[in-house]
This record gives sequence, C-alpha cells and structure tokens, in this order.
Amino acid sequence: MSLPQLELPRVVGHRGAATYAPENTLASLREARRRGAGWVEFDVKLSGDGVAILMHDDSLRRTTGLDRLAAATPWAEIQGLDAGAWMAPRFAGQRVPSFAEAIACLAEEGLGANVEIKPCRGREAETARATVEALRKHWPTRLPTPLLSSFQDAALAAALEVGPEFPRAILIDALKDDWRARAQAVGAVGVNTNGKKLVPAMAAEIKAAGYLLSVYTINDPARARALVAMGVDCVITDSPDVILAALSG
Ligand code: G3P
Ligand code: MG
Repeated sequence: MSLPQLELPRVVGHRGAATYAPENTLASLREARRRGAGWVEFDVKLSGDGVAILMHDDSLRRTTGLDRLAAATPWAEIQGLDAGAWMAPRFAGQRVPSFAEAIACLAEEGLGANVEIKPCRGREAETARATVEALRKHWPTRLPTPLLSSFQDAALAAALEVGPEFPRAILIDALKDDWRARAQAVGAVGVNTNGKKLVPAMAAEIKAAGYLLSVYTINDPARARALVAMGVDCVITDSPDVILAALSG
C-alpha cells in the first residue's frame, strides 16, 4: 500500500466531538464532521478476543455501565452494550464500534484520522499489529494518510515494524529532554503533547527539529490561538466548531 504524504489539519476532533456526542462512537465521529472537522482522533484497544475497538478506558464501566475490563470481554458481548445512554438519553442505542466499523464511517463522512493506539498493559504490540492490519485491510485510499499515535513507545515500535508506511507520532503528556530520542527510536514524524503544559521553548525546539507538533485536548479558544502562535500545527479538541472559529481568519 503506498500512501501519500501526511498532511495534518489545523483542527482534529477529540474522540470524535466529545463535547457533543458520546466519545468514541460513530455518532461522535459524525458530529465532528457536522461541526466542521476534517479529521478526528479516537482510541483503539482490543477486546478480549483481539478485535480492535474504539474505547478509551481499560474498563467498560464509564461508557457502557458494564463493570468489566475490555480485555476480559469478547467482542460479541461488547457489541451488544449501549455506549451512548451515559451521556444523554437521546444517544441511547449508540454502540462501541469496531475499528473496522469506524473506518467505514470515516469513509462515508470523508474524515481523516489520528488513530491513537491505546493498549491495555501487556498488549502493546498486539494492539499495534491489529491496528495496522485493519488499516491495511479497510483504509480507503481516497482518505488522507492516517496518523498513528500512542503513549506506549512499545506500541509505536511494533507499528513501525509491521506497518512502516503509516506515519507515527509519540504521545507525551509532559515533555522532557528525552522526547527526541523517543521519537527517533520509533521513526516518528510528529510529537503529540498536552497543550495545557506545552511551553514556547519546547514548541520551538520540536519545530526546529522538523517534527509535526499536535496538542490535546484544547477547548479554550484563547489557549488554542496561543498554541498556534507558538508553532503548533494541529489542535485536538472536543469542540471542533469552537476551535475552528477561534483559529479562522
Ligand atoms: O490523542 C490525544 C489524546 O486523546 C490523548 O489523551 O487520554 O484523551 O486519549 P486521551
Ligand atoms: Mg486519545
């Protein structure tokens, strides 16, 4: 599979558009598009039987009410859970999508994606391999090249090994001096970091080194503008409409 060069947008919807719809559901992906986003970020982890699904927490409890680990629950069961009612009754009926289903939704909506590999402990390589496998199988060539990211360097190392064609970004909450060595070790093209903690000197260092710089999760218009002024390329936000408006013009 040959992919065109990575072109990150200025604004990416976080977990879809998490302010407005239940995170990591198809409704949330669609809501991001409706609110003007061209790309979304979401979290991919594995069900007990190894199906790549959209889920942030290790436990299914917060978003589905089932007090069990995703890693201990088969896809057949996860599939039947309600992942929307916790947010508002009108979202009842939203399901936990498989990654394959999410890609089909992105294709319908014409959305690009920052795919965050969010492995449970000990499943870093396995989760990365399943992510790459699904991308190879389902990612439509007409969509922009996706960006893979992870807080787990082991997941990115596995992604590099099995799917070097998919660009990678290291995910680091608070950047330290080792960021460059970590980025180089996994052949990353980007650094994704906590935009509330990023300071101008570090942003300048990352940009001077030639990396794409993305920040999460920024819902405050003034902070988004300040980060872009620091050289940030891409702002990941729960409220893409608000941040798009803040950065326009
Ligand atoms: O990928 C950016 C951001 O989503 C990382 O943090 O915890 O929201 O997945 P989290
Ligand atoms: Mg995430």
